[in-house]
Amino acid sequence: MNIAIIGNGNIGSGLAGALGKTDHKVTLLGKGDDLAAVAAAEIVILATPYGTVNELVGTVDFTGKTVIDVSNPVNADFSGLQVGHATSAAEEIAAALPGASVVKAFNTIFAQHYATGLQIDGRPLQTFVASDDAVARERVKKLATEIGLVTVDAGPLKNARYLEPLGFLNIQFGYVLGQGTGIAPQWLAAA
Ligand SMILES: NC(=O)c1ccc[n+]([C@@H]2O[C@H](COP(=O)([O-])OP(=O)(O)OC[C@H]3O[C@@H](n4cnc5c(N)ncnc54)[C@H](OP(=O)(O)O)[C@@H]3O)[C@@H](O)[C@H]2O)c1
Repeated sequence: MNIAIIGNGNIGSGLAGALGKTDHKVTLLGKGDDLAAVAAAEIVILATPYGTVNELVGTVDFTGKTVIDVSNPVNADFSGLQVGHATSAAEEIAAALPGASVVKAFNTIFAQHYATGLQIDGRPLQTFVASDDAVARERVKKLATEIGLVTVDAGPLKNARYLEPLGFLNIQFGYVLGQGTGIAPQWLAAA
């Protein structure tokens, strides 16, 4: 598949490195790059700060694309989330891109894990995947599996309302409460 990643910071670079080891064609785009390459992509990963979609919407046609939102919509001083409870970043992005299938994924995985194989002590990390488009959700689950993650089906996109606070709790544990970035949330179930 043809995958465009918009945003070449910590997460964009990490995902590009992991996806670059698969059979997919990956294009990593930074600020100022020509976004024309996005036209050929079936999957677009928004690896930018929450809110960037409002800048992109006039320059990129997302119609028909699977758009992966990885964001944790933290406010400027990281003291809380900009949106929540009755909506989520993912739902706001979906509202801004009515022709796209938005999928929430990867937001609970610290960027540092991409350099260490997306596992902790040999155990693969999980990613929680939510979307209203079941086909797009399965497509992203497959992609995540291909880079070594275990996927947890998180159902409809509105469950991003709970995945984003989970991402924020992860940031609290990692950066505020002293656990560092070698952590990740996991949902356990009987085999
Ligand atoms: N870091 C983590 O551990 C982590 C974990 C899970 C989820 N996330 C989420 O992942 C997203 C990216 O985080 P990050 O840590 O990778 O941030 P980052 O290192 O600051 O990277 C963000 C990238 O987006 C680029 N960008 C900003 N506006 C853009 C635009 N209009 N067009 C194209 N590129 C644009 C930035 O370019 P410039 O540098 O030139 O401004 C930068 O390269 C955020 O939504 C964050 O909440 C991060």
